[in-house]
Amino acid sequence: MLARIWSAAIVGIDAVKVGVEVDISGGLPGMVVVGLPDTAVQESRERTKAALKNAGFPFPMRKIVVNLTPADLRKEGPSFDLPISMGVLAAAEQVKTDSLEDLLFLGEVSLDGSLRPVAGVLAIAAAAKRLGMRGIVVPANNAREAAVVPGLAVYGFAHLSEVADFLNNPTGYAPIHLDGLAELAKAQPNTLDLRDVKGQAQARRALEIAAAGGHNLVFVGPPGSGKTMLARRLPSILPALSFDEALEVTQIHSVAGLLKDKGSLITHRPFRSPHHSASGPSLVGGGSIPRPGEISLAHRGILFLDELTEFKRDVLEFLRQPLEDGYVTITRTRQSVEFPAQFTLVASTNPCPCGYYGDPVQPCTCSPRGREQYWARLSGPLMDRIDLQVVVGRLKPEEMTRVAEGEPSETVRQRVEMARDRAHHRFAADPTLQCNADMQSRHLRAWCPLDSTTQTLMETAVRKLGLSARATDRILKVARTIADLEGADHLQAQHVAEAIQYRTIDRMQ
Ligand SMILES: Nc1ncnc2c1ncn2[C@@H]1O[C@H](COP(=O)(O)OP(=O)(O)O)[C@@H](O)[C@H]1O
Ligand SMILES: [Mg+2]
Repeated sequence: MLARIWSAAIVGIDAVKVGVEVDISGGLPGMVVVGLPDTAVQESRERTKAALKNAGFPFPMRKIVVNLTPADLRKEGPSFDLPISMGVLAAAEQVKTDSLEDLLFLGEVSLDGSLRPVAGVLAIAAAAKRLGMRGIVVPANNAREAAVVPGLAVYGFAHLSEVADFLNNPTGYAPIHLDGLAELAKAQPNTLDLRDVKGQAQARRALEIAAAGGHNLVFVGPPGSGKTMLARRLPSILPALSFDEALEVTQIHSVAGLLKDKGSLITHRPFRSPHHSASGPSLVGGGSIPRPGEISLAHRGILFLDELTEFKRDVLEFLRQPLEDGYVTITRTRQSVEFPAQFTLVASTNPCPCGYYGDPVQPCTCSPRGREQYWARLSGPLMDRIDLQVVVGRLKPEEMTRVAEGEPSETVRQRVEMARDRAHHRFAADPTLQCNADMQSRHLRAWCPLDSTTQTLMETAVRKLGLSARATDRILKVARTIADLEGADHLQAQHVAEAIQYRTIDRMQ
């Protein structure tokens, strides 16, 4: 007999429906899997056989052909174990086939028949909903992840025999419910709070501007001055994720296989800090079947590159295009996929090779030439895309011993949200814009006109610092955010003057 079960395969961060057809006929006993399966899918034969036997089902000693459709799509990974097992049982008439048409199945099986979680369940659940399927059957540890999708019946099971029982008695099982909005509302505040940071008024201000306008930021300062500490507190002042954003972020993490065990909706903005030994593919995504990299895992959140100069230069070059476009395209012979990558870049670096240039206590031991080479290395094309370049100096002794706490993150976050609201209001005409950092030259002409005093100020800065046209645009964007934080409709000289201050690296040269 012939049976068909629905499953799905991941393509990029999306999923497409895969039909698993199983035919049992006379002939020499054996099992073949056709339809572009990779090795993991091929091995599914052996797992399925053992699992069904160990779960107490008589394995049909006949010829079994498993065909995965569409034939031209490459199928990978162990997630077809469950649909193949159920297909064999259905074709052998050991389970009822009534509910097979509108349910989607996926899961890895162990040799004892228990179900193990797989990657990409949320993406597949979202696709199932979009394709009009009624529900999805997944390993129990994936159930909460799938249940994030509203309006889809999710059934989670720990063992093959439970799935078989469910097919024979579908009304005996209730789908799992999870209220995504409630999960989001329950999200705990960030544990790292700005109130722990003493002094550092300018760095705190820069964090606030970065959060309000989505500007990329670099901290320059000696070791131990608090650069890492400050950067890690940026998520605590960002606006909360909306439900749609949370779904989007969760989907990317799901496809990357990071939610495999008991994962559910991600309720916080991501903060990714890859080590400086990271390779290009781990940063931007890759693999024979493309998977998202750190920049996509940081989507709608922060990518933190600590000790920027330690990263390999060619690896950093990979960041240029995604920083401009907000997505990354990965091309392979069989497929080309796009991963979203809208993140705020935060970096930290020492001011010179020894780390102490400009420090009032410890003298810098670098030669002037060594310093110049270092800055030349810093001021590459990546630095050109960083709006805020901020010096973080060593705390003064009286600041260090002060007991009073700094301003708490929650207060700062409220100002950030107000500034973002102003920007959204302005962007109503152009929905491609999310924050001030996204503005192009034409937007700047419309929204950042300068009066004559401010114009003169800007010209002086361009001349003195030798600013490029791109750097000039960046100053205007930052000035726009400063004005938004102040609640001002028009750019004024003080907004631009403050924005110019954040060109430290241009000034060092
Ligand atoms: N402004 C500050 N307020 C409170 N503690 C600080 C401050 N700056 C530094 N520290 C302390 O010094 C430690 C080292 O700071 P860190 O952020 O790692 O410095 P950097 O990254 O610049 O080398 C922090 O973990 C923190 O305990
Ligand atoms: Mg550090």
